[in-house]
Amino acid sequence: MASSVAKRLGGKVAIITGGASGIGAATAKLFFQHGAKVIIADIQDQLGVSLSKSLANHYPAAANNIHYTHCDVTSEPHVENLVDFAVSKFGNLDIMYNNAGIIGDHERLPAQDSSTKDFKRVMDVNLLGAFLGAKHAARVMVPAKRGGVILFTSSIVTVVGGLAKPAYSASKHAVVGIMRELCMELGEHGIRVNCIAPGPVPTEMMKEHFKIEREVAEELLKSKAAVLKDTVVKEEDIAEAAVYLSSDEGKVVSGVNLVVDGGFISVNTTFAKLWNQ
Ligand SMILES: NC(=O)c1ccc[n+]([C@@H]2O[C@H](COP(=O)([O-])OP(=O)(O)OC[C@H]3O[C@@H](n4cnc5c(N)ncnc54)[C@H](O)[C@@H]3O)[C@@H](O)[C@H]2O)c1
Repeated sequence: MASSVAKRLGGKVAIITGGASGIGAATAKLFFQHGAKVIIADIQDQLGVSLSKSLANHYPAAANNIHYTHCDVTSEPHVENLVDFAVSKFGNLDIMYNNAGIIGDHERLPAQDSSTKDFKRVMDVNLLGAFLGAKHAARVMVPAKRGGVILFTSSIVTVVGGLAKPAYSASKHAVVGIMRELCMELGEHGIRVNCIAPGPVPTEMMKEHFKIEREVAEELLKSKAAVLKDTVVKEEDIAEAAVYLSSDEGKVVSGVNLVVDGGFISVNTTFAKLWNQ
């Protein structure tokens, strides 16, 4: 457990959607270690319950500060209940991290062969789900008059093209749009609204989509794609950004789409590759 001096989220109440796996799970762990009361929300019940139990067992003094709740972010009643549960359990809501996401069709079909059903599913989870989380967080944060933080996981696909499929990219661009609008609307209530745009992180999502094991992905990212020598952006690196944006250290930061990618999108290696052939 982080020492009391280093606990940057002491007493804060946080919800993390997509919290059972990957970036969400790492963030749940780090928020909890920083003293937050955390509700992990996901559709992978087994994983979520097991993460929650293992954190509670590891830190018995704070065992009551971590919970798992089943929540499909595409369902408004689920999201509404999730937020109400946080308030009834812990008295309020300080941080809503809308992180749940899917990449869509794992076949990586070209646009002309892709299905409308897949497009809508990606939009439902990544975009509608993110909006519903923000909507219901605002529903309780605004009247509580104690400020708050709303976070979204966008992606570096919101900054550069050629990395993903249209549905995924469009959904994440739209999430940045929601963030900017809410930054204005909720700013007058002292609620900060930001996105984190991760570079490639070797989570389950990457494993399923590219059909490669984590070790292979890490090696590729480190050797072929790294701008920062030997660097792989990991779930914990995104979690650190989420702690910063959620804590008092980030108290003047709002309306930002914070890229966390080890410099991945800041360079274009095409020219260098041509030259070095
Ligand atoms: N891994 C990357 O390279 C990368 C890069 C940029 C952005 N992201 C984004 O980060 C976020 C987390 O992804 P990850 O890489 O940790 O992948 P992940 O698959 O490990 O985690 C995603 C989580 O979202 C949950 N989820 C999916 N649909 C849901 C729904 N309808 N309701 C509730 N939960 C649902 C999944 O069960 C899973 O636990 C996503 O929004 C993703 O788009 C990932």
